[in-house]
Amino acid sequence: MKDGKKTLYSAVQPTNNLTIGNYIGAIRNFVALQKDYDCYFAIANMHAITVRQNPAELRQRTLSLLALYIACGLNPEKSAVYVQSHVPAHAELCWVLNTFTYVGEMERMTQFKDKSARHAENINMGLMDYPVLMAADILLYQTDVVPVGLDQRQHVEIARDIAQRFNNAFSPTFTVPEALFMKVGAKICDLLDPSKKMSKSAENVNGSVFLSDDKDTVIRKFKRAVTDSGNEVKYDPENKAGVSNLLSVYSAFTGKSIAEAEAEFAGRGYGDFKLAVGEAVADKLAPVQAEQARLLADKDYLNGVLKDGAARACRTAEKTLAKVYKKIGFYQI
Ligand code: TRP
Repeated sequence: MKDGKKTLYSAVQPTNNLTIGNYIGAIRNFVALQKDYDCYFAIANMHAITVRQNPAELRQRTLSLLALYIACGLNPEKSAVYVQSHVPAHAELCWVLNTFTYVGEMERMTQFKDKSARHAENINMGLMDYPVLMAADILLYQTDVVPVGLDQRQHVEIARDIAQRFNNAFSPTFTVPEALFMKVGAKICDLLDPSKKMSKSAENVNGSVFLSDDKDTVIRKFKRAVTDSGNEVKYDPENKAGVSNLLSVYSAFTGKSIAEAEAEFAGRGYGDFKLAVGEAVADKLAPVQAEQARLLADKDYLNGVLKDGAARACRTAEKTLAKVYKKIGFYQI
């Protein structure tokens, strides 16, 4: 709590290219939330390495994500924007929290099971420890709310459990965080398989629209999006999953309601509709991409943001860590 504001924490991994789903479901909401909360936005590079990364790409994507955050409207003067590995307290608290987390709990986590299946050649300890590091991220800042998508719900639950376990073992130390689920319509699905969430790492890149896609690519992908054999632009997720997904995208990118969008395309074919969705998305992405490119050319500025962000994050994080070390009996000098 600072200036009467609650604390909000979130992070994005600098892996793969972000999709319009990440923008609608996460980053765009961060921008709105920074007015009402004291915010920390991290670039989770320590989480990223739980799956093998190309080091040069990881470095590049870290800066790219920072530039994107700012290009989308995160204000580094208001919110602490920083890289996870720049704040040593994350790894330090993670170690302590490991001793308050059971192996069985971690083995049962859905994401661990999924990722173990997908990366069977590299089921490393970090992959299993991922939720504990995430708990450390959140708890270090005495976070009240964590805006997440449904796929991260279990991770926030575990962070709550660990916080309560520690608080009960000693005395109130951590704020017990709440997950903040984003509004309906936030879930953007794959354009080629609308039964699946649009993913950064989908097998077919044509099902995902990346924030880095140029106008032609965006329009081509929407043109190829699956619809159905009908011809009515109507929101009906059960029977018209493809069209409904496109309506959600259109609504999210234009600010028009679903009903307004349906009215706009009444009596017009799917071809027209898909083109309009593609254009709406491309037109919104263009200025963000331009600003991101401009920022990426100004490395001194970006480094300055990261230095400042890390210093601010460290101040809060170290306070919490010192409390923890004291409670568990680490001798202090
Ligand atoms: N695991 C999150 C994701 O992939 C990223 C993340 C890391 C995070 N630490 C966090 C999200 C803390 C919220 C809070 O989406």
